[in-house]
Amino acid sequence: MTESAVIQTRALGKVYSPGSEAEVVALAGVDMRIERGEFVAIMGPSGSGKSTLMNMLGCLDTPSSGSYHCDGIDVAMLDAEQRAVLRRDKIGFVFQGFNLLPRMSALENVAMPMAYTSAPRGERLRRAHEALAAVGLSTREGHRPSELSGGQQQRVAIARALINRPPILLADEPTGALDSVTGEEILALFKRLRDEDHTVVLITHDPEVARHADRIFLMRDGELHEQAVGGPAHPAAEPVR
Ligand SMILES: Nc1ncnc2c1ncn2[C@@H]1O[C@H](COP(=O)(O)OP(=O)(O)O)[C@@H](O)[C@H]1O
Ligand SMILES: [Mg+2]
Repeated sequence: MTESAVIQTRALGKVYSPGSEAEVVALAGVDMRIERGEFVAIMGPSGSGKSTLMNMLGCLDTPSSGSYHCDGIDVAMLDAEQRAVLRRDKIGFVFQGFNLLPRMSALENVAMPMAYTSAPRGERLRRAHEALAAVGLSTREGHRPSELSGGQQQRVAIARALINRPPILLADEPTGALDSVTGEEILALFKRLRDEDHTVVLITHDPEVARHADRIFLMRDGELHEQAVGGPAHPAAEPVR
């Protein structure tokens, strides 16, 4: 059975503006199966369909054909409201630009997604406090984003993505705005989350970033191909500071 797959797509297709002159086949039959506790990377040139796939996996958009089971739930069976609930409970998003609210403290930013739950304020803040501690930012709770480094801002964004304890973390170019040493710290954090049984899906154009993942997929003209394993073993070298 497919029960342990947290992400399972079958022949997933997406056509923008179907039937018009502007028709674009953005996804052409994507079959993807990802288990709990896996860390995968998706690479591919600009326009190959990576963001479109991410939007499908994140239940932000609906496919034109094929199916998507998210943690065992057939997303096509849900109405918009149920999809929003699924998104809240199952998926955390991390973006290149961090997308933090500038006037709010780190703690308030992290607590934000819980505003749409029934948890009382005290519980929300307690959970946000724990989430910030888990990413090593206990001493920065009261700081606003502008008072934090890029790497710290991304860790706040990751804590925010995890506040509702979703099994899936979707990250679109999360290290794109960071220097390589800081990027490595974020990747180390993703590996730890993987080891804690999260499923991490990382979009990147950078092979140095992708090689941290357990599996690498290549997107090309809307088709997804898994890269064969068996590249050279990488020395476990620490980045030079
Ligand atoms: N909302 C949209 N409407 C029409 N075409 C789109 C839309 N979003 C993306 N596309 C097209 O779909 C293809 C895949 O885009 P995208 O998923 O953004 O690729 P990537 O993230 O790999 O750069 C591109 O040809 C793009 O122009
Ligand atoms: Mg994109």
